[in-house]
Amino acid sequence: MVALDGPSGTGKTTVARKLAARLGAGYLDTGAMYRIVTLAVLRAGEDPADSAAVGHRAHGTEFTIGTSPDQPELRLAGEDVAADIRGPEVTRAVSAVSAVPQVRELLVSRQRRIIADVLAETGGIVVEGRDIGTVVAPESPLKVYLTASADVRAARRSGQDSAAGRPSSVEAARESVERRDHLDSTRAASPLRAAEDAVPVDTSELSIDQVIVALSELACRRGLLEGCDAETGAGSGPAEVAR
Ligand code: DC
Repeated sequence: MVALDGPSGTGKTTVARKLAARLGAGYLDTGAMYRIVTLAVLRAGEDPADSAAVGHRAHGTEFTIGTSPDQPELRLAGEDVAADIRGPEVTRAVSAVSAVPQVRELLVSRQRRIIADVLAETGGIVVEGRDIGTVVAPESPLKVYLTASADVRAARRSGQDSAAGRPSSVEAARESVERRDHLDSTRAASPLRAAEDAVPVDTSELSIDQVIVALSELACRRGLLEGCDAETGAGSGPAEVAR
């Protein structure tokens, strides 16, 4: 299992999915779970700042989350909500919802069940989030903490929004990522932070493929990647990644 934590705009999702495909492993986007609960809260007309209502709503929310790195399915009461959960309303409210202890308890226990099931089925999983290495799976054999400068993260978020047809500007994206980082890292319940034994990887100057090569080498050295030299990490390079 690989635990991939870090703030938004560091390339976590793209990297996690590509790495999972490369390792022949499953994939779990825990941020999407917090987003689905947030969407349910907003659709019910509840105030994301009302922790009691949010906790209650989380318990009554029926959703499914897929673990395939190619096409992870996200359904709220049967409806495909993959696009809706990335919209600006959810993005604005998700930090408040994810700071509610009952929401975290509920989702962390579900995440642990999914991880156990996928590990039993496929033998591997890449899990992305904010507290995977610290809370959800501290026993994970490889923990990576992705970072990038605020400028780079804002530019990436804004590019993703434009590509998805959502209105965007780098300035607004910068404000949004900084606001969310602040809320996510200062909340009382399992704040965003690197596990002590996580490997920090700064992606500011790296392409996605370069990040994948670096992580594949780490995975190789921890015995999580087949067909490479675990002593030296050789055989985890770009040629193999391209396959
Ligand atoms: O990775 P993302 O942007 O989709 O995450 C959305 C929010 O969910 C993020 O602002 C903080 C929260 N989150 C969390 O608290 N714990 C996680 N393991 C994953 C996400």
